[in-house]
Amino acid sequence: MERMTYDVVIVGAGLAGMRAAIEAARVSNGNLSIAILSKTHPLRCHSVCAQGGTAAVLADKDSFELHAWDTIKGSDFLADQDAVEFFVKRAPKEILQLEHWGMPWSRTEDGKIAQRPFGGHSYPRACYAADKTGFYEVHTLYDTMLRYENIEIFDEWFATGLIVDDNTFRGVVALNMKDGNLYCIAAKACIIATGGCQRMYKFTTFSHQCTGDGMAMAYRAGIPLKDMEFVQFHPTGLVPSGILITEGARGEGGHLKNKLGERFMKKYAPEKMELAPRDIVARAIMREILEGRGFEGPDGLDYVILDLTHLPEEVIYERLGGIREIAMRFAGIDPVDEPLPVRPAAHYSMAGIHVNMYGATPVSGLWAAGEVACVSIHGANRLGTNSTIDCLVYGAVTGEQAAKYAMNRNPATTLPREKVDAEENRVNEILSRNGDENPYEIRREMRDTMDKYVYVFRDGEGLTKALKKIRELQERFRNIKVEDKGGVFNTNLTDVLEIDNMLTLAEVTIVSALARTESRGAHYRLDYPKRDDKNWLKHTLAYRTPEGPRLEYIPVVITKWPPTERRY
Ligand code: FUM
Repeated sequence: MERMTYDVVIVGAGLAGMRAAIEAARVSNGNLSIAILSKTHPLRCHSVCAQGGTAAVLADKDSFELHAWDTIKGSDFLADQDAVEFFVKRAPKEILQLEHWGMPWSRTEDGKIAQRPFGGHSYPRACYAADKTGFYEVHTLYDTMLRYENIEIFDEWFATGLIVDDNTFRGVVALNMKDGNLYCIAAKACIIATGGCQRMYKFTTFSHQCTGDGMAMAYRAGIPLKDMEFVQFHPTGLVPSGILITEGARGEGGHLKNKLGERFMKKYAPEKMELAPRDIVARAIMREILEGRGFEGPDGLDYVILDLTHLPEEVIYERLGGIREIAMRFAGIDPVDEPLPVRPAAHYSMAGIHVNMYGATPVSGLWAAGEVACVSIHGANRLGTNSTIDCLVYGAVTGEQAAKYAMNRNPATTLPREKVDAEENRVNEILSRNGDENPYEIRREMRDTMDKYVYVFRDGEGLTKALKKIRELQERFRNIKVEDKGGVFNTNLTDVLEIDNMLTLAEVTIVSALARTESRGAHYRLDYPKRDDKNWLKHTLAYRTPEGPRLEYIPVVITKWPPTERRY
């Protein structure tokens, strides 16, 4: 396998990865060689799908204390409070930094950065660029990244494995999709920023590339995954595609209604109504549907409606133009005239690679940032718009840390040959499979299983069935046929590598969910409907073993906000 050497390698080129690359380049003043790898072109990363905004305290009447409290209460008290305080204080700097790099934030009449209300935030603190916030942020970072000559971009490179030796990061093995060869990229430091994994669900807001490759790679390398049972379901996935309809639509005044025309949120969150946190709104929608007050949808996708027809047309044209276009293209509905059919869609992993409050993994020289990581600042339920700011804050923090670490280390000399060979053999063995199972059928069954049993409401019986099914699919996966044995753009190979990763993460998600016999945030167990702080105010860590995930638990950091009942 050919070897390349850099000082810092970043895997993933979305908001977190690009922000990390820029910070590493800046801190090192051009003195470090930086490689950034991505399986798509950076401008096609999933971050472009972020719509509604990016949270930060900018206004005098808002405060860090309030942003921290909203985040902690929203997290159902599973967030580490020291990390949340650190995070909210870093957020405004990132908004202004993007502004200086050319981000076209929407403006108030008097020229200030506009901020809109969002679920669970007690002050309008979502900075936005119409409803295409992520799109503009990605373009701003990409343009900025191109200015640094010491950042080399490897797009359409699929990272398959981490090389870790003596608990120290040594390199990344990656497939150059253009020529089909595997390369080992040796580096002193690495940041994983590959995003989330929720394409293991069928009804999801995620782009097709969100297959959890970075999480699975870290898990295979012995790093624990934290809090995998906590999957966020965004209340308003457009039926039937699952494409995101931003919470910004409710922030601008949209109403959720059932079949009887009732604004049902008054029963579930009388004060915050449609702007309650997502776990609460998603459960309310599902209760309405399960109790017969939803509309019948295609393929069992029953739904409620999101009504924007009472809003002034200019609000929809100017601030919600993106979702109008999506609704017209993917549901044939113009929200100016008609309400939109919506139901909860898998949207975000509160979970991820176990890192500390500065984004460092337990392996020296290895950091993780953005959705792939679990600090934890989002706990059991993330507030909308705290994700893009997480990517920016932790991209910057890990970029700085990794650069400083690399500047103080000698170049790597040798790599552990047997580990590099083992990764090459793993990929080649998968490529050589010639059995009689169709991997795409396995993927379909995995997604149906996750949608059915590991959704907004769960219980022990359903989770047990799901685990049995995923393990059966893992067995069948050993016997797949990879039809394309070629090298150049072998998407059949990258698809099966992704399916392998998703099956692994589905198993960890279910095992973690089965073990947590309480309801907290997005993890709602019908058989254990209460939060249980006495036994479960703790983070799950899942370690890989040949028999399946082994779980351990670590305490939640509580500083000044003791857990209370959540009311909205
Ligand atoms: O609804 C939205 O625009 C999504 C935002 C988020 O997930 O942070």
